[in-house]
Amino acid sequence: MQLLKSLDELRGWRTQLKGTVALVPTMGNLHEGHLKLVDLAKQHADHVVVSIFVNPMQFGANEDLDSYPRTLDADCIALAERKATAVFAPTVADVYPRGLEQQTFIEVPGISDILCGASRPGHFRGVATIVAKLFNMVQPDVAIFGEKDFQQLQVIRLMTRDLSLPVDIIGMPTERANDGLALSSRNGYLSAEHRKIAPIIYQTLQHAAAEIRSGAAPEAALSHARKHLEDNGLRMDYLELRRRDDLAPAQVTDPQLVLLVAAYLGKTRLIDNLQFDR
Ligand code: PAF
Repeated sequence: MQLLKSLDELRGWRTQLKGTVALVPTMGNLHEGHLKLVDLAKQHADHVVVSIFVNPMQFGANEDLDSYPRTLDADCIALAERKATAVFAPTVADVYPRGLEQQTFIEVPGISDILCGASRPGHFRGVATIVAKLFNMVQPDVAIFGEKDFQQLQVIRLMTRDLSLPVDIIGMPTERANDGLALSSRNGYLSAEHRKIAPIIYQTLQHAAAEIRSGAAPEAALSHARKHLEDNGLRMDYLELRRRDDLAPAQVTDPQLVLLVAAYLGKTRLIDNLQFDR
């Protein structure tokens, strides 16, 4: 497996590469969920490039950029075992040569300001910008993203379509622990007590989806679900029912739906979602 630590190294390597390329963009600190993205990527292309870059542009001022775990050596061992072709781990100076203040950016209107975008202003601008830059750097044929970050996936789909980028976007179903908790780098921040409570998030989504599918009024099902989470010690950011493609509020005629939740356990903000059809 190649380790490419600069844009120059990547470009030199990419020019002589034959065959199709799948990109798996990550911020490192890889867990089984990321490695499953690599497995899926291998089914879609001859080569798999995994980018590892903790993107400062998508972190808010009071977020965990400095403490975000950076585990490049362990990540490379895991990726070599999974037979990734290359890891691209550029520096911040390589990615943002004029600094963040001067950086040209991409913003997908509408969808970027709701749900997680409302709580984390500028977050999806940072995501859209780095993903577009990675597409330009790596020049993949396909790119794989986890459905756990469902809003991120839809932002990237819209950005790719709006900018006519020649990359197929593939979403991969969320990888879960045995008790249903969605795998996430941030689960590592949970105390033992909070880790026991966390699976209630997905159970609550399943329950709310079942209620709505069997004809309950969505607002009633959602307020039961919010109360259930709060009664179990979670602090709600949001729990919403949305139309799946653009995450606009769901109307009675929308068949493809998604429940999305963000809630805090202690200081850790967890997100999850559940897609279902009505
Ligand atoms: O999901 C992530 O890890 C990041 O948001 C991504 C897509 C790698 C962009 O920095």
